Amino acid sequence: MWGTATAAHQVEGNNISSDWWDWEHRSGHCTEPSGDACDHLNRYEDDVKLMADLGFNTYRFSIEWARLEPEQGLYSKVYLNHYQKMIECILNHGLTPMVTLHHFTSPLWARKQNNFVSKEVCVGFLKYVELLSKSYKDLLSYVCTINEPNIVAFMGYRMGLFPPGLQSSEDRRIATQNFIDCHKKAYEIIKSANDKIQVGLTLSMTDYQPVDGAQERAKRIAYIMEDIYLESLDNKGDFIGVQTYSRDRVKPSGVSLIEPGDPVTEMGYEIYPEALLATVQKAYKLAKMPVIITENGIAPLGDDDQVRVEFVKKAIQCCHELVSETELKGYIYWSFLDNFEWNFGYRPRFGLVSVNRDDFSRKIKDSAIFLGEIAKKNAIEF
Ligand code: BGC
Repeated sequence: MWGTATAAHQVEGNNISSDWWDWEHRSGHCTEPSGDACDHLNRYEDDVKLMADLGFNTYRFSIEWARLEPEQGLYSKVYLNHYQKMIECILNHGLTPMVTLHHFTSPLWARKQNNFVSKEVCVGFLKYVELLSKSYKDLLSYVCTINEPNIVAFMGYRMGLFPPGLQSSEDRRIATQNFIDCHKKAYEIIKSANDKIQVGLTLSMTDYQPVDGAQERAKRIAYIMEDIYLESLDNKGDFIGVQTYSRDRVKPSGVSLIEPGDPVTEMGYEIYPEALLATVQKAYKLAKMPVIITENGIAPLGDDDQVRVEFVKKAIQCCHELVSETELKGYIYWSFLDNFEWNFGYRPRFGLVSVNRDDFSRKIKDSAIFLGEIAKKNAIEF
């Protein structure tokens, strides 16, 4: 599978019933609000056509729970139809739709109950999963249940930097367990609607490299961030989604994202595509299932696209190595469009395609053509 990805809140625009919309306007943590985003809600047909023209065969995108259930228990038929049309459009262009059911955002009513700390919210999430599974059972082939629950548990429940804005180790522990349970139950619900649908959890995974004897510390961090998820899947998954951006050097005194002299991204971490080698191998070993790289990408300083081309080239060379060592089934670049990068607003640019922030017109970058050609040939020249 060769694909590219987006997430509803980051590209659709005006996601006003979500917890993130509220967060952007009230928390003080966001540099700017998402506003119209990339107007993908109205422009998805042109965007999907462009992906197909570029040579991709997979589009990973998310369905917005806050649009489907803007008030608790009140489901929107308009948006149920909207996403059905979107999936059909992707299929009509010959692409495989890979649908994420929860990508960071929850409805605001769930936030008022502290999101995934609350059992009631988990029940609400699973009802939404059931609605989608029944409605789209004949259209779906790949589903990612929850996007990076490990990042949400850390940023939203321990650090207070994402909604619901909690800062408690206990809330993080409860949310982690609830995310794992929700994934497993969602897996059962989707499989009972249509057992051919391939279902997976997607995790943020970092190459944690211990230095100066910090092995134990690195193990502890990796356990709470990654292993706890990978080890508790109990086969509830047809694939594991790996989402890797860089490495962390773990020292006895703390974790460093960057060392003097390292090439750096707009996000402040190191340019290190080789991180995929360690993360994919680990995911395969611990989850014991095929792997899809559901996110990998770069926001280069000043959006220097040549740096992106080099990054992608090295990443795909890593994939080439990994194919013979693991069951690696696909590479999905994050992101198709320059989009709303959460607390950082629109400054970091991960896109293969840029978006004019005044008229929302799209401009293809060289990296889009570069990766599209690899996708078409299913091969890379060394
Ligand atoms: C998230 C995306 C985000 C990307 C780049 C991932 O953690 O799933 O929503 O835009 O990383 O930071």
